[in-house]
Amino acid sequence: MKKLKTKQIKEDLSLIGKHVTVAGWVRTVRKQSSFSFVELNDGSQVSNLQIVIEESLPNYQELMEKIQTGAAIRVSGVVMESPAKGQAVEIKPDLVAVIGEAPSDFPLQKKRHSFEYLRTIAHLRPRTNTMGAVTRVRSRLAFATHKFFQERGFQYIHTPIITSLDCEGAGELFHVDTPKEKFFGKNAYLTVSGQLNVEAFAAAMSDVYTFGPTFRAENSNTSRHLAEFWMIEPEISFANLEDDMALAADFLRYLVVDVLENCREDLTFFSQYIDPSLFERLQFVVDKPCQRVSYTDAIKILQDSKQEFVFPCSWGLDLQSEHERFLAEKHFKGPVIIYNYPAAIKAFYMRLNDDQKTVAAMDLLVPGVGELIGGSQREERYDVLLQRIKDAKLKVEEYEWYLELRKFGSNPHAGFGLGFERLVQYVTGMENIRDVIPYPRSPGNCAY
Ligand code: 4AD
Repeated sequence: MKKLKTKQIKEDLSLIGKHVTVAGWVRTVRKQSSFSFVELNDGSQVSNLQIVIEESLPNYQELMEKIQTGAAIRVSGVVMESPAKGQAVEIKPDLVAVIGEAPSDFPLQKKRHSFEYLRTIAHLRPRTNTMGAVTRVRSRLAFATHKFFQERGFQYIHTPIITSLDCEGAGELFHVDTPKEKFFGKNAYLTVSGQLNVEAFAAAMSDVYTFGPTFRAENSNTSRHLAEFWMIEPEISFANLEDDMALAADFLRYLVVDVLENCREDLTFFSQYIDPSLFERLQFVVDKPCQRVSYTDAIKILQDSKQEFVFPCSWGLDLQSEHERFLAEKHFKGPVIIYNYPAAIKAFYMRLNDDQKTVAAMDLLVPGVGELIGGSQREERYDVLLQRIKDAKLKVEEYEWYLELRKFGSNPHAGFGLGFERLVQYVTGMENIRDVIPYPRSPGNCAY
């Protein structure tokens, strides 16, 4: 018989009275005098499906000895209306098979474990309510990302993971090689961004995006940094900074609307156990247009705020995380785009504004997380770009191909990068970025 997911059984009330089969892992067992309640979870939703196993079932005693927390079981039986509060249906099985037992040293016996502890058992934490909910929201956000871009005629480009370029000019790279030789005949790295590669495709396909893993070897031991993270990078042709900011705001709103519609139960779980303000925060994104402020005005706001900051704040300095969070959380109380940053603190490829001091860059900041998106209009003028490459002390010969995109059919274009884990953090309210990715990689941590 075809196996159903517990979510289907709980949501499709026409199944009441029908005979079904489900399989999953036992969360809890409660033995009563003549029957036992088994809470079954198959990962399709947070809540469990209740199985009422009656004593009259053959081998009842032997079966109940084997059915312990963590065991894998398959159940066939009739869907019944449940007399208990808080659940519509339960299953009265006529067949229960223990597929895989879980001895009493199964570590997830308690109801709640610390996230720190769960990180040490990365292979078992998918079986917790929190990681399960994170996993479903993450999966939905990835799907919604493709939906958003595909609906708008963007092509999905697979940019390389191994590259010989340092896109951001920041130098925080992981080197790739064999122990013996220069495999590629030159230095090669794990990519920090697919942007430069994807620009070549934007210059042919008009609107494109990448969505893949990116790597940064910076020694940032924070709750918002990973050494390996996923980035979504759209690139749009015949477009300026204004178009870029509008795309970023539309994208964020689309994602939030999508998860509010499709991940209700998981978001309710997060609002109950992780972040009570979650729905209010997300509704704000749906209801209000994304706010904007220039870097110059943002500096004025920070200087006039009377807030004590650890790091100095004046025109020309990069915004620190405490500044970004003050702006998003205290001042704007919601997502805000900061644009037109000083050229000296931004990457060489960003378009120089007419004032010759600032570039057409933008960062989108959100409460609780800080920078979620970083992007810009790109420098499309050959001579200006060449000068910027030289000023940044990069090797011009390595950027010949990138310069050629400005020689042959150059056009104003723009793009941004959205950190996928920071998005998951924002949507779920999870405190630490290591708890929103299946296997976190950070300084000193590379489990399995
Ligand atoms: O601002 P970043 O460095 O931008 C770029 O890499 C551009 N090439 C993107 C583009 O224009 N196509 O990174 C973009 C986003 C950040 O806003 C942040 O959300 C995320 O990537 N990010 C990280 N997320 C987790 N861990 C890290 N170490 C991150 N570094 C950046």
